[in-house]
Amino acid sequence: MRGWGLLVLSLHVLSCMVSGVASGRTSSYVRTEFPSTDIPLESEWFAIPKGYNAPQQVHITQGDYDGKAVIVSWVTPEEPGPSEVFYGKKEKQYDQKAEGTTTNYTFYDYKSGYIHHCVVDGLEYNTKYYYKIGSGDSAREFWFETPPAIDPDASYTFGIIGLSLLICVLSCLISTIPVSVVPGDLGQTFNSLSTLQHYEKTGGQTVLFLGDLSYADRYEHDDGIRWDSWGRLVERSTAYQPWIWNSGNHEIEYRPDLGETSTFKPYLHRYMTPYLASKSSSPMWYAVRRASAHIIVLSSYSPFGNMLFQLAFFCFCHAYSDMDFFNEAHYMEGESMRSAFEKWFVKYKVDLVFAGHVHAYERSYRISNVNYNITSGNRYPVPNKSAPVYITVGDGGNQEGLASRFYDPQPDYSAFREASYGHSILQLKNRTHAVYRWNRNDDGNHVPADTVVFHNQYWTSSTRRRRLKKNHFHLENLEDLISLF
Ligand SMILES: *[C@@H]1O[C@H](CO)[C@@H](O)[C@H](O)[C@H]1NC(C)=O
Ligand SMILES: *[C@@H]1O[C@H](CO)[C@@H](O)[C@H](O)[C@H]1NC(C)=O
Ligand SMILES: *[C@@H]1O[C@H](CO)[C@@H](O)[C@H](O)[C@H]1NC(C)=O
Ligand SMILES: *[C@@H]1O[C@H](CO)[C@@H](O)[C@H](O)[C@H]1NC(C)=O
Repeated sequence: MRGWGLLVLSLHVLSCMVSGVASGRTSSYVRTEFPSTDIPLESEWFAIPKGYNAPQQVHITQGDYDGKAVIVSWVTPEEPGPSEVFYGKKEKQYDQKAEGTTTNYTFYDYKSGYIHHCVVDGLEYNTKYYYKIGSGDSAREFWFETPPAIDPDASYTFGIIGLSLLICVLSCLISTIPVSVVPGDLGQTFNSLSTLQHYEKTGGQTVLFLGDLSYADRYEHDDGIRWDSWGRLVERSTAYQPWIWNSGNHEIEYRPDLGETSTFKPYLHRYMTPYLASKSSSPMWYAVRRASAHIIVLSSYSPFGNMLFQLAFFCFCHAYSDMDFFNEAHYMEGESMRSAFEKWFVKYKVDLVFAGHVHAYERSYRISNVNYNITSGNRYPVPNKSAPVYITVGDGGNQEGLASRFYDPQPDYSAFREASYGHSILQLKNRTHAVYRWNRNDDGNHVPADTVVFHNQYWTSSTRRRRLKKNHFHLENLEDLISLF
């Protein structure tokens, strides 16, 4: 089973103008598939920073609802050490300090390091901040930039990654592999590294990560060491720009056979989300606003209480995986949850729905499947201008390799698909325009394989009041919806 997550970007865009793409295209490009094995642990990509107890696996994420806070997280291996972030607007001049918390966990025979989470808040918009963590000779310094103020015309660029690829390589194809990696279903293979490196060149300011991080669960006893190596691998990006986290099925790590009966244990210890700011009761469902985007993170695998978990696991893995129904590997698995959410997507004018999990790339037209009904068997989506475009980006590069057998012929609702690895960039230009590009890794960053211009119809619709507040989404509604499952 592949990892999966769902992330929704509500740009209030309705109709989709496809530029230069003929209807329903299956790219003939098939990636040369070098084995998706994990990068060896001793690789320089996983290097441990120098100095006693030096902070490692540094990552930041948005820390509030509106983008004026970040959560800085890191791991110290030997002892807890201070859980403090020193920061300021000038390099090496850290005139402010924030205090965080420390946690640690065990997983079977693995003992984690000391995991720090520190909320740095009260930040100014559109500002570069420098920060320092750790002490003495082992201190490390990084920086990040805050987003512009919430404004429908704020331009902002997101990278969308399904990352599974990173860690694995046991075989030795190193010389044939481009030195780079990052997005959803990432993993830690060389493909993952390549995705990450390509992403770094795109000018993306924040990553929307679609779930399935380390794939540590593929190791015997869910080897926590692979969580650590993954954290070090992606630090080159995660320490400098926020990654908006979502979890996938590889984060569940429910192992009663090892005495590990709580779900998402490593993930929840290591990756924090600002869920309380959107009044969510679970770190796995939350919403944030950033510049002109309203981002809603949904994990189809997250339990609402233990009772629901079994149900959720069953329904969501077997009955739902949203975008998966575009791909033969998971054809129609996703229906029940998708159709429940769909009404809501339309109502709130969600423009784009991103999902990971299937290991390929696919973009739909604006399609609706509200008539879907298991009994009637009426299961084919139809074009609907009010519906979102669904994009599968489960192509970060994990160990499981590519899902290259697409359902054939290409369904009417599928606009473009390709069995290859890459990442996406979503550039929000202003309230009316957004440009979305998908780049396959092999072409470098200047050759988008799929480009779409979105027109935001929320702002052009005369029947809508043009106030952002009107469209403000409350997670309570979502939870009501979820509770139906
Ligand atoms: C956390 O670390 C402390 C100090 O090393 C240790 O005593 C404790 O057992 C650890 N807790 C877990 C859950 O591993
Ligand atoms: C589904 O289809 C069946 C048979 O056409 C019909 O009896 C049933 O009411 C439909 N259910 C819904 C929820 O529309
Ligand atoms: C499009 O979806 C909306 C909301 O579900 C629905 O009311 C409308 O009838 C649909 N239009 C078509 C052409 O199916
Ligand atoms: C929005 O951005 C698009 C694309 O960059 C541009 O063509 C358009 O004129 C802009 N609209 C406004 C109101 O600035």
